[in-house]
Amino acid sequence: MGFWLKSFLLLLQAVLAPALPFSTRVWGRSAPLQPSEDPFYTPPAGYESSAPGTILRSRAIPDTLAISSILPINVQGAYQLLYRTTDSLGNPQATVTTIIVPHKANPKKLLSYQIAEDGAYINCAPSYVLQQGSELNDSGSSAAEILFIIAALDQGWIVNTPDYEGPQAAFTSGIQAGQAVLDSVRAALASGSITGVSSEAAYQMWGYSGGSLATEWAAELQPSYAPELSFIGAALGGLVPNITSVLNTINKGPFAGLGPAGIIGLANAYPALATYVQENLVPSKAADFEKAGTQCLITDTSQFIFDDIYSYFTKGEELLNDPIPQSILQSTGQQGTHGTPQMPMFFYKAVADEVSPVADTDALVSRLCSQGAQIQYVRDGLGEHVTEIITGAGDAFVFLKNRFDGVPAASGCHTSNVLLDALNLPAIEALGATVVDALLAILLLPIGEIGLR
Ligand SMILES: *[C@@H]1O[C@H](CO)[C@@H](O)[C@H](O)[C@H]1NC(C)=O
Ligand SMILES: *[C@@H]1O[C@H](CO)[C@@H](O)[C@H](O)[C@H]1NC(C)=O
Repeated sequence: MGFWLKSFLLLLQAVLAPALPFSTRVWGRSAPLQPSEDPFYTPPAGYESSAPGTILRSRAIPDTLAISSILPINVQGAYQLLYRTTDSLGNPQATVTTIIVPHKANPKKLLSYQIAEDGAYINCAPSYVLQQGSELNDSGSSAAEILFIIAALDQGWIVNTPDYEGPQAAFTSGIQAGQAVLDSVRAALASGSITGVSSEAAYQMWGYSGGSLATEWAAELQPSYAPELSFIGAALGGLVPNITSVLNTINKGPFAGLGPAGIIGLANAYPALATYVQENLVPSKAADFEKAGTQCLITDTSQFIFDDIYSYFTKGEELLNDPIPQSILQSTGQQGTHGTPQMPMFFYKAVADEVSPVADTDALVSRLCSQGAQIQYVRDGLGEHVTEIITGAGDAFVFLKNRFDGVPAASGCHTSNVLLDALNLPAIEALGATVVDALLAILLLPIGEIGLR
């Protein structure tokens, strides 16, 4: 785990220790059911004939959202919708989104925040890990990302956070993720009688790393898959435009665990790849590799740290040149190939990003801009993949706030190089609010009623 994430978790523990002397069990709350055991996730018979975005089932989850599974946050309401979407192969599918409504919500502002689930196991889904009493090992980066959700809630924005990997946990399949995000927004806009979201709400997207993957694919697929939707903005950080290139970059490094999770995630979605993986794993190492299908980011990271991912395959890295993996990676693992985003976008990326080379994001920006996209691109000269999630968040937040406030985005494309993109004043103010709101949440104060504006 990166330095920042470690420090964050240590800080959280230090704050929590005196504040929370009781375990969740002493509070008398039972742990939520894992998605693999929870009948809510199974769609009703015949759902396949409903239109993408149709709400199939809903429930309120009062008072159970929490930071790191232990620290409850105080909101006006939280709801889950099971909705119809479409899988990587074009078949009907149902997945869940969680809609969080702050106190004093503005029903006309909806932010779709894509959490970086980064696991190939259904029990890593945001709808589960955001709940109090969920298995802490499954929480991935949500413990940190919920701070950004809290900052958004404090603006009065209603937050939609979909399980975009779907029931197959198809981690790294861009087509799956993009379609599930778009349908979650359709479902959210139709959920007024349950959640209070206005059908005329303005809506934007935000995501970092695995969450930016889902966000970018949603932006690319929107013109063809959901032409009636009209986003007013999207913020994407730590982009991962090319999964093949990510595999080569993370191999033997601290993020090597994303490799098995990504390959198994794709195999979950593409039966031909599942067969290919089974036939090509080194027999004595197969069981270890396949563990990535029943565990989440934190466990994957520690199991595979500094591993040579290709050593699990009889062919080694030649596997990337075989037709089955190559064609699947090309169709669902390379951005810039399915359409041109129609909304103004903000990209932030550390030049030294060690998960996805900055050159891939540079190339994506050139490609999309040549097709007419509208992108403000900030390249951060000091950060890396883990620090950028926090240092870049201030500018991203300012961008989203300006769009919701009706400030027009700069036209065309602009790239800027900065030394540390947290250093400008509006960004510091936005980050300050985030941190202050996290503290308010820790103190259980009602989010939305108090906080910096
Ligand atoms: C993705 O990366 C691979 C490996 O570096 C490369 O061969 C391929 O051309 C890249 N795809 C795109 C669309 O840039
Ligand atoms: C959580 O993960 C740690 C480290 O991977 C492991 O030692 C521990 O047993 C796990 N706990 C549960 C409940 O799975």
